[in-house]
Formats: sequence, structure tokens, C-alpha cells
Amino acid sequence: MSVLHKILGNIVGRKNPIADTAQALPNNTKEDSMDTSTTQSFTLRNNEDGSEFTLPVLKGSVGPSVIDVRALYKQTGMFTYDPGFTSTGSTDSAITYIDGDQGILLHRGYSIEDLASKSDFMETCYLLWYGELPNKQQKEEFVNTVTNHTMLHDQITYFFRGFRRDAHPMAIMVGVVGALSAFYHDSTDITDPKQRQIAAMRLIAKMPTIAAWTYKYSIGQPFVYPKNSLSYSGNFLQMVFGVPTEDYVVNPILERAMDRIFILHADHEQNASTSTVRIAGSSGANPFACISAGIASLWGPAHGGANEAVLEMLEQIGHKDNIPEYVARAKDKDDPFRLMGFGHRVYKNFDPRAKIMREEAHKVLGELGVNDPKLELAMELEQIALNDPYFVERKLYPNVDFYSGIILSAMGFPTSMFTVLFALARTVGWITQWEEMIEDPSQKISRPRQLYVGHDQRPYTDLASR
Ligand code: CMC
Repeated sequence: MSVLHKILGNIVGRKNPIADTAQALPNNTKEDSMDTSTTQSFTLRNNEDGSEFTLPVLKGSVGPSVIDVRALYKQTGMFTYDPGFTSTGSTDSAITYIDGDQGILLHRGYSIEDLASKSDFMETCYLLWYGELPNKQQKEEFVNTVTNHTMLHDQITYFFRGFRRDAHPMAIMVGVVGALSAFYHDSTDITDPKQRQIAAMRLIAKMPTIAAWTYKYSIGQPFVYPKNSLSYSGNFLQMVFGVPTEDYVVNPILERAMDRIFILHADHEQNASTSTVRIAGSSGANPFACISAGIASLWGPAHGGANEAVLEMLEQIGHKDNIPEYVARAKDKDDPFRLMGFGHRVYKNFDPRAKIMREEAHKVLGELGVNDPKLELAMELEQIALNDPYFVERKLYPNVDFYSGIILSAMGFPTSMFTVLFALARTVGWITQWEEMIEDPSQKISRPRQLYVGHDQRPYTDLASR
């Protein structure tokens, strides 16, 4: 039993009406038998007094090993210092693996290329949550569970009405998703695996409805209710682009493109928003509140907000003749301008998601007969940047957000919805990572330390003497 469970073990859950329809609980998908210990170690030497400390090395199944510094403070009275966590592993995880140098992304061992070309989003969700690909019956049951929980509590519509019409859809997402915890009390007991599962299914199922309604609200159209006869992606499209007065016919090209975009965003190991979800959850907060925290973190332009920023940048550049000017600005350290959609903390080679997205952009625009000059501009910018020593030396390649905005705008989504779609798709990754954290018996509340550089203790001066 984890510490979190012990602390929160006295919370009593209520009977959940959908509990019986939810599927089997996920196996503990971490490799239980995996022994991370090694005979390798590092010796840390204090050059002042010659004292030495041994730091063990832990190894995973694949990828870099880690130096275990958990005993460091006890042994040395010092912390490690790593702002931005550039050299710090915050957890062990069996969900997603990235090799940034090779441009490899695996979910539960399956490559993103295979998933994007052979799987669909529902299957990818199942894979992430349960750890294995479903058989036919498991998939049907899973799709059925998700499909049957797409409706929102009717009172949630009043939450939407509290927002200004011109609110950014991400602002509405943060508020409404956090507010789910006020509606679904019967799935907030985090000590009950069944309730956690129900919360996960609810989030995956309801996120398209919330996302679509943020858009409908912003343009003053009535909310379109989910339709169970449609696929996850098809249903989302009809809730976004349909109107109650007409039958909406799902375009299979858009449906497949939407599904693929969801797959490409489903999870990405310990990025800023996922770490936010885990940190929020480490205190025992309920899953809806934690996912809302993740949405807030995703919103920033250095993270999920980059897709919106890429399109704004392409519009700002306007013409390929202006590219050199903007590339020069991106290289100028005194200018805050950056080439949005370029660079990644982990990928120092092409982002594999960007490769797929690039192909998808050409395909979707071709199939829809859309001739968007922004695609041409993006390709030109990519070529110039990839051949510029500044970008080459720093290994700054296009990331997933570079092409996604072009496809999404060709599909008819306004720029302000791009990050919302990212949040929708990432929900399965967030909730799976949250579940893994809750199940981890060694889990502690996340509480980093600091290097204090402020005043030492000093006497208080009375107001009259200041
Ligand atoms: N344009 C120009 N220079 C850049 C860029 C860029 N887009 N990205 C990084 N650099 C430079 C940076 O100035 C620094 O140069 P120097 O070493 O001379 O000081 C060097 O490259 C390393 O950059 P960093 O900021 O230290 O790297 P980081 O790992 O902290 O940041 C990043 C990664 C993604 C935040 C950053 O590359 C960036 O801001 N990119 C643009 C925003 C973007 O596209 N974000 C989406 C990320 S992918 C989707 C997701 O997972 O959310």
C-alpha cells in the first residue's frame, strides 16, 4: 500500500452507477519482476575534506541509467541542483519511452509509426491504460464504455454560460475539467481502484464533448450532443462542426486525420504537463483537479500552446521572402522571437511525430483540395532552418506542433482550438501516468528543494523607523 493510500485510506467512496459497466482494472503494468539494481556505482568525492560517498546506479529496460541520489542529503547535507530538470529523472515508468537522439517514441513498446498507421485512437487509449493491445472483444467493450459516457451532467452547461463568449477555449477547459470533481463525487476516492478507473473512462469519454462545446460556446451556436453511432473522432467532428438543424455527415478523410492527430498526442512521458499532473496528484488531489492542472501547464507556448503560436508565426512571416529576417531574429539573443515549432528538450533528431504530421499535412490538404500557402511557407522555413548552422549545431528540428496547426486549420478549426485538441488527446496519457503514480508503493508527495539566495534572518524594523 502506498503512503498516499495510507494517508487517504479513510476516505469512503459512494456507490457508482457506472461501476459495473467498466472493464477489468488495469494490470499493474510496470514490469514487477524488473530488477533495476546494478553493481555499477559512482563515487562522489568532497575535494575539501576528501570524504567520499557512493551513489548507486539504477538501470531501466532500455535507455540511459540513473544515478540514485535519494540518500545524498542524508549522507552529505547537500541537495542536487537542476532547474528545469535537464538531468533529473523524477520517476520510473513503464508507459512511454523516448530516445531523443534516435528520434524513437514507443508506447508500451509499440512504435508511434506503427500505432499511427495501423492502430486507432481508441485502441491506443486501451494500450496506454491497460498496458496491452486489446483483443476484439476487449476493444468492443472499451469502445462501448467510452461511447456510453460521452454526455456531460446537464448542469455543466451552466458552467459554460458563466464564461465570456470571447474567453480562450483553454481557459474554459481548465475551469470545466476542474469542475468535473464537483459533479462526479463517486469517482474521486483515489484509494479505490474501481473509482480511479471510472474517473479515467469519464475523462477520456467526456473530453471531446467539453472541447467541442468550448468552440460552440465561443461562436454562439447551440451545443451539439454526442452521437453514439459515430466513432470517437467522428463524434468529435460532428459536435464541433454539426448544427442541430442539419444532419452532419462525417468526412472519412477528416475522421482518419483527426484520429491520427489524437494518436500522435496521446502521451509523451514526463513532459511539463504530465509532470504537473503527477505533482498535483502526489498530494492526493482528485483526478479531475489533476487533469485540470495538466491542461493549465499544457497551455503555455513552450509546450502545447506552440501549435497555436506556429500558425500565428506563419501568418506574421506572411511571405517566403520574409523568412531570412525572421530566422535572423530567432538567432538574435536580444530578440525574444523564437521559431515556434522548432526544438525539443528530448529530441535532438527529428521528432518522429513531426515526420508523420508532415506527411499527414500533405495528404489531408491534397485530399481536401486545399491549397494553403502556409504549408509552402512552412516547408520553406523548415529547409532554411535545417541548413542554418545555428539550428544544426543546436539540433533544433521541427517538432510535432510545426505541422499540426496547418492540418487543423485546413480541417476548419480556429487557431484558438489547437491546444484544446492537444489536451483532449493527451488526457489518456495524463490519467495513465497519474494511475501509475498512485499505484507506485514508493510514491511520496513531490517536494523539490532549493538553493536559497535571499536574506539571512534579520531584525524586524518598525514602520516608523523605515
Ligand atoms: N528558436 C530559436 N532558438 C531556439 C529555439 C527556437 N525555437 N529553441 C531553442 N533554441 C536555442 C536556445 O536559444 C538555446 O540557444 P543557446 O544554447 O545559444 O542559449 C538552445 O537552442 C537550447 O534551447 P533551450 O531553450 O535551452 O532548450 P530547452 O530544452 O529548454 O527548450 C523548447 C525546449 C521546446 C522549450 C524550445 O526549443 C522552444 O522554446 N521551442 C519553441 C516552442 C515549441 O515549439 N514548443 C513545442 C515543444 S514540442 C510539443 C510539446 O511537447 O509540447
